[in-house]
Amino acid sequence: MVFRYFAGTKRRNRAGKALKDVKASDLFSTRSNTFNTVREVIESRRAVRKYIAKDVPDSVVYKLLEAAAHAPSEGNQQPWEFIVVRDHIKKEHIVEACYNQNWMLQAPVFIVACTNMRLARAIYGERGERLYGIQATAAAIQNLLLSAQSMGLSTCWIGSFSESKVAILTGCPDYIRPAGIITLGFGAENPEPPMLQKAEDYIHIEEFGRTLLIESVIDQKSPLGKGRSEVDYWAKS
Ligand SMILES: Cc1cc2nc3c(=O)[nH]c(=O)nc-3n(C[C@H](O)[C@H](O)[C@H](O)COP(=O)(O)O)c2cc1C
Repeated sequence: MVFRYFAGTKRRNRAGKALKDVKASDLFSTRSNTFNTVREVIESRRAVRKYIAKDVPDSVVYKLLEAAAHAPSEGNQQPWEFIVVRDHIKKEHIVEACYNQNWMLQAPVFIVACTNMRLARAIYGERGERLYGIQATAAAIQNLLLSAQSMGLSTCWIGSFSESKVAILTGCPDYIRPAGIITLGFGAENPEPPMLQKAEDYIHIEEFGRTLLIESVIDQKSPLGKGRSEVDYWAKS
C-alpha cells in the first residue's frame, strides 16, 4: 500500500529534472533489493575484538572516512574530525587510556572520531554543543562501521576511555572532543548476535507506553524477498 505513493508520479532528480514515469512495481523491486542489502549489512555487523595480522590500506581507510562524512548533521555543519592512528607506540598509549582494553592492539588501525565543538556550537549554541554535534558524529561513526562491514572489514566502537588522555595523545586542541574510537581491521572472530529487545518493547504508537501487537505473515511473493515476513501491527488498546 505504501508504494502506491510512487505510482504514476514523476520523480525528480537533484537537478530538478523530471525522470520518466516508472512503474511502481519496478521501482519497488529496485528499492527492496537495496533495502535487503542495506539490512543485511546492518544486521551482520558485529563488535569484533579479534583481528588477524593484516593491514588495511590507506586508500580503503580514506574511502570509509568519505562514507562517514555523508552522515546528516545539524545545519550541515559536519562537526566531525577523524584521526587515523597506525603508530604502534601511540596505539599502546591509547589502549592504556581505554582502561587497558588490550585486545584493541590487534587492529592495525584506530580511528579517533572527534566532535569539533566550535562547529557544533556555531549555529545552535548549547544544544548544538551538548546534543547535535555528538549525534552527528555518532551518525558518521555508524556510517563508517557499516561501510567497513560492507567491504568485509571489521570494527568495534570504543566509548570507554579517558577523554583528556586521548585528546593529549592525539594532539587535539580544547575544542576538539574525542567522541569514540573505532578499531578497524580484518576480523578473526564471528561473534554471535547480541540479544535484542522485541519490537513491542521499544516501539510506541502515538504515545509512550502504547505498544504493539504484532502479526507476522510469511508472504512468498513479498517484495521484501522470498519468504520474508511482512509485519502488520496495530496499537494495543
Ligand atoms: C557508545 C558505545 C560505546 C562502546 N564502548 C565499547 C568499549 O569501550 N569497549 C568494547 O569492547 N565495546 C564497546 N562498544 C561495543 C558494544 O559493546 C557493542 O556494540 C554491543 O555489545 C552490541 O554488540 P554488536 O555491536 O555486536 O551489535 C561500544 C558501543 C557503543 C555504541
